[in-house]
Amino acid sequence: MTAAAGGRTNTAPGTARRVVLGVSGGIAAYKACEVLRRLKESGYQVRVVPTESALRFVGAPTWAALSGQPVSASVFDDVHEVAHVALGQSADLVLVVPATADLLSRAATGRADDLLTSTLLTARCPVVYAPAMHTEMWEHPATRANVHTLRSRGAVVIEPSSGRLTGADTGPGRLPEPAAIVAAAVDVLDRGVAEPDLADRHVVISAGGTREHLDPVRFLGNRSSGRQGYALAQAAVSRGARVTLLAANVALDDVAGAEIVRVGSAAELHDAALKAAADADVVVMAAAVADFRPRTVNQTKIKKVAGSDDAPVVELERTTDILAELVRSRTRPDQVIVGFAAETGDTSGGVLDHGRAKLAAKGCDLLVVNEVGVDRGFESEENQAHILGRDGSTTDVPQGPKLALAHVVWDLVAARLSP
Ligand code: CTP
Repeated sequence: MTAAAGGRTNTAPGTARRVVLGVSGGIAAYKACEVLRRLKESGYQVRVVPTESALRFVGAPTWAALSGQPVSASVFDDVHEVAHVALGQSADLVLVVPATADLLSRAATGRADDLLTSTLLTARCPVVYAPAMHTEMWEHPATRANVHTLRSRGAVVIEPSSGRLTGADTGPGRLPEPAAIVAAAVDVLDRGVAEPDLADRHVVISAGGTREHLDPVRFLGNRSSGRQGYALAQAAVSRGARVTLLAANVALDDVAGAEIVRVGSAAELHDAALKAAADADVVVMAAAVADFRPRTVNQTKIKKVAGSDDAPVVELERTTDILAELVRSRTRPDQVIVGFAAETGDTSGGVLDHGRAKLAAKGCDLLVVNEVGVDRGFESEENQAHILGRDGSTTDVPQGPKLALAHVVWDLVAARLSP
């Protein structure tokens, strides 16, 4: 893939792209071995640059064997190759896993006291940090300020996950799963843009499909897998956004850096969406939300009546239209709101006619219209869409990966955000 405007790729077409994997000294360094293995399996040329303290957790022979490249932490090794400058200059991506509080501090203040910090200073390619540390260190104002500084200079700092830390404690600070870190890194590499255009923006994305219970074991649901919403979250993370992902019954792997809020029904999604939208720059309603729910939910399982063929009649009621309510209750006029519409053409109009009517009815800024059929849209890795703007614009996105559609959505959103 070619680098987009403003980006820079150092590798000639046809050769493996070069990743510098920086490793700083935290217990999560062992998880960087898995990140390295996955990057190598995906065909990248990876040079590992550990700090001295990282080598206390995982030794140089492990990094050298897994990467097939020499390993050094010091600027005084291989001095004739001027490695402290060459590695950063020739990299297509620098990825730091884990980034400790100390490494973030040294990077933010521009120190160059070892090979990794020197490489970070000379890199002009995208830089991604995956921090991992104890919650107190992550939340400390010093670390917050360092993260802010690095983001303001164009780095992507992936939010750590919340969960079990090294000791018995739990909280934000855990390294996301290696596969999720690699997915984020590959997306940044593929875009090849060194300036994340959603930096410091809070985006809220709903994904999946709601379930409306009839009784404790049955529900009315839909076929949405959540893949498009998760692709939107992945793309937003790699463009620097703080992401809240409202996941309605999604069984996909977590997206590194996205805060996941799990919901079940349309009512739960309604409450979570309104709460998260209060301070959001962007809200994208990609979830398939039930329009109707059973008027009453049986507290016990609905049973067949012995000897009778009668079937129960389920009375439905309307749910709240969350998207329309988000538009109505928008307190920030600069908030960008995006809806999705799964449409089929019928006798009253084509897919785009229905899309335009829906855009007008909902009042959102952008509406992503998919043409659905039995074998299109749902549960698939690919999507095709027309993105309609309130300003009358139409952007056609041909059939392709859901991640590619996600980036087109963010291009259009970024153009509508106030500076
Ligand atoms: N949506 C919502 N709340 C609902 C239903 C839908 O926020 N109760 C959102 C969806 O997340 C999507 C958009 O509205 O972004 C379009 O949903 P869709 O169900 O296609 O539209 P409807 O208005 O329900 O129209 P239709 O009659 O075609 O179903």
